[in-house]
Amino acid sequence: MTAPTRARGNNEPVDTSRTIDFFINGTPCTAFAGETVIQAAQRAGVAIPHFCWHHDLSVPGNCRICMVEVEQEGGDPWFDIGCNMPVTAGMRVLTESDRVKELRRDTMQFITLNHPVDCGICNKSGECLLQDYHYEHNGRASLSRDQKNHATKFYPLSQRVMLDNERCIMCTRCVRFTAEVSGSRALAAVHRGDHALIRPAEDANFDLDVYSDNVIDICPVGALLAVQDLDKARVWYTEATPSVCAGCARGCTINVWHRRPEWAFKALDPHLNARIERVTPLENPAVNGAWTCNKARDLSQLMERPRVTQAMAHGRPVPSDEAVREAATLLRDARRVVALVSSWGSNEELAAFGAQVAAPLGARLTAWVKADHVPQPGEVVQDDLLIVADKNPNRAAALAVAAAMPSDAGAWPLDTDVVLVWGEGAPASSLPSGARVVRLTSFAADDASADVLIPVSTYLERDGHFTNVEGTVSAFRTVFAPPAGVAHAADVFTAWGMALAGAGVSA
Ligand code: SF4
Ligand code: SF4
Ligand code: FES
Repeated sequence: MTAPTRARGNNEPVDTSRTIDFFINGTPCTAFAGETVIQAAQRAGVAIPHFCWHHDLSVPGNCRICMVEVEQEGGDPWFDIGCNMPVTAGMRVLTESDRVKELRRDTMQFITLNHPVDCGICNKSGECLLQDYHYEHNGRASLSRDQKNHATKFYPLSQRVMLDNERCIMCTRCVRFTAEVSGSRALAAVHRGDHALIRPAEDANFDLDVYSDNVIDICPVGALLAVQDLDKARVWYTEATPSVCAGCARGCTINVWHRRPEWAFKALDPHLNARIERVTPLENPAVNGAWTCNKARDLSQLMERPRVTQAMAHGRPVPSDEAVREAATLLRDARRVVALVSSWGSNEELAAFGAQVAAPLGARLTAWVKADHVPQPGEVVQDDLLIVADKNPNRAAALAVAAAMPSDAGAWPLDTDVVLVWGEGAPASSLPSGARVVRLTSFAADDASADVLIPVSTYLERDGHFTNVEGTVSAFRTVFAPPAGVAHAADVFTAWGMALAGAGVSA
């Protein structure tokens, strides 16, 4: 299984079956055939600074910060950029010689010539390559006696992405991304020298690029800003938890950024401590490469909808465990249970459903996998990069425990007297009239009436795994604690399993 090739960009293929011996800073190293010095050094744990080079984009060689020295036996050494230099047998590369350090200092002086001293107000501060390299490889004040050039500070490239022209170092990563990965060709460089600017291409629309926000991550400086995250939180107040995007069955791996507990607001709304600050790709060659579509960036729109936190039984609010018992009684006494299985449930929850609910109910159960989510109006349904048509992250695993739900309403068994709805996507109007309804749900919905309602956690509130459309399993970790009154579906299934077994239902 592989992610689509465009997800990897345009780098030349590396032949891992052939190796080349060479030296970095006097230490013997091995490169794969086709690797450049920067790639081989990175694998060997030697960091070479880089701005314009990105491992999943083509190599323009324009920033020159990756300059290295190559020793020549019996001759003068030569200097060239490590990102565009193929490793050759016996090559002796120096990345930390005095001359290399001097060249880096000079290059940093040049790159920061017109860069504003904006770190104190810049969203990238704390994770900015320019800031890091300044301290690591330069450390001097500007040698320039001239005024810095000024340019527009808030130039909207689209409704989602803002450009600060003064901070741009013209590495062209963003331009190459739209040409080589997203395919929109929506960005271009205009003018020359220190007047050069990144601008939307005249014949394209960056608003239509559903991968546009990746340019914010790959911009090595704070020139490209996410409108939705702008000035929300400093980087060092937040931390990332590895997760999976539930926006479609590709299941891109992501980092969900949220406020660090030690920086929790004490005097402000406590919800600010449990909100998604931003989402970035979690690089994964097996699924999404280094990218995600914008739907992952908008995960808060999916996951921060109004919640259900009060369990209900027969029209009255009850504690969650009482609702679980009431539901167990309905299941135990049912003639025919139809379970609509969530395609958002984790592998672990699906296993618990199979063992604790499906097995004891046996022949009295009909289980169907439903779509919890369908494409929304205006959404790109499918493309040739990452986005797939199924808007549910775990249908592949769900189909291993239950059959796909038939579209024909006539397929419902005539003797259905209890319907178990797990997750979203099954409004009351779609269920057989007269049947008792048990619902496990996380989000409030007007059309989700039930005889027994049990609030359950979202996948951001527990550990688990999803199996994507191509069978790749990815883990997600707990980002937030579940709200009070909310149970985990797997625990509910376990409680039901004990109740059904205690009642001898499986016998
Ligand atoms: S906006 Fe950022 S990514 Fe684009 S050219 Fe400028 S520095 Fe590079
Ligand atoms: S392609 Fe699918 S899984 Fe990946 S980020 Fe977009 S919606 Fe999420
Ligand atoms: S990283 Fe090599 S020239 Fe920019």
